[in-house]
Amino acid sequence: MNLNEKILAVIGLLSDGEFHSGEELGEVLGVTRAAVWKQVQALESLGVKLESVRGKGYRIEDGVDLLDQKAIHSKLTDSTKEKLSHLELVPELASTNQYLLDKLNTSGGLSSAHICMSEMQTAGRGRRGRTWQSPFAKNIYFSCVWHFENGVAGMEGLSLAVGVAIVRALEKIGLKKASLKWPNDILVEQAKLGGVLIEIAGDVAGDCDAVIGVGLNVSMPEEAMTEVDQPWVSLSQCVSRATDRNGIAAALINCLFEVMKEFERGGFAALKNEWESYCTHLGKGVSLQTPSESFEGRMLGVSESGSLRLEVNGEEKEFLGGEVSLRAR
Ligand code: BTN
Repeated sequence: MNLNEKILAVIGLLSDGEFHSGEELGEVLGVTRAAVWKQVQALESLGVKLESVRGKGYRIEDGVDLLDQKAIHSKLTDSTKEKLSHLELVPELASTNQYLLDKLNTSGGLSSAHICMSEMQTAGRGRRGRTWQSPFAKNIYFSCVWHFENGVAGMEGLSLAVGVAIVRALEKIGLKKASLKWPNDILVEQAKLGGVLIEIAGDVAGDCDAVIGVGLNVSMPEEAMTEVDQPWVSLSQCVSRATDRNGIAAALINCLFEVMKEFERGGFAALKNEWESYCTHLGKGVSLQTPSESFEGRMLGVSESGSLRLEVNGEEKEFLGGEVSLRAR
């Protein structure tokens, strides 16, 4: 459905989990009390469960934890605020990555450190052509533009660096056992909690922009994941403080900017050891599937450019990212 301003205002009103009368909702929607019921049916299609009780009105049991630009901004560090060029919150998008890519390609560019966050994505993208399930007001979906002057050469290891930023943020939120699967899956005990998708706009040999997309499951509903073929997990299953999505979003942005500062100074080499310390497969037997071949080996670590180092039949081999899939043996 199209998340229009009125529906959003109704959700905002009901987000406290308290009962609100039909009159109150009617005022927000600009319809009579009798017509409210039909309008609020729209919430059901967003997965928002509405309760109506005669004489009391309507409520969303347990409320909704909506994203709020001001709340996020208030939790950013001074150094993040200094760097941040723009923080956009768009209620519904096809994909936050696509939104920024479109703007970069059509509107004469965006400044570096421009962030776009959304409550839901109707065509959220994952790596390797996959769909990223993005139901309304449940998780975190955001993308950030980062400008590079020296083309994609300067982006080596960037997606791994972003993984480091996410693990740091999760630690701040209280999740101590997040790990990374090369190149940039965020895992908790082998179940996927989040992921990173980097797409590029501009001249790959010169002035260009990375659109860094981050998706993190905060309280993913079971029914949204029926067609997902890998184990997954939500932050709410791992830590008790997972209801404050604004706080989680701010922690992610703060850590992303902190890591980007380190990346700009020293490239991925400056973050390699930390990445390896979070790696779930380090020293372990793995199998790697490329579009044309498969390999069995032991993961030695990653190189300073972020490629995967595998020991295969006693020999060291390096693999770049792309269409490869890695799993434990
Ligand atoms: C993966 O497959 O692991 C990467 C998932 C990346 C999902 C995020 S959600 C925000 C941004 N917009 C998208 O369409 N995808 C990324």
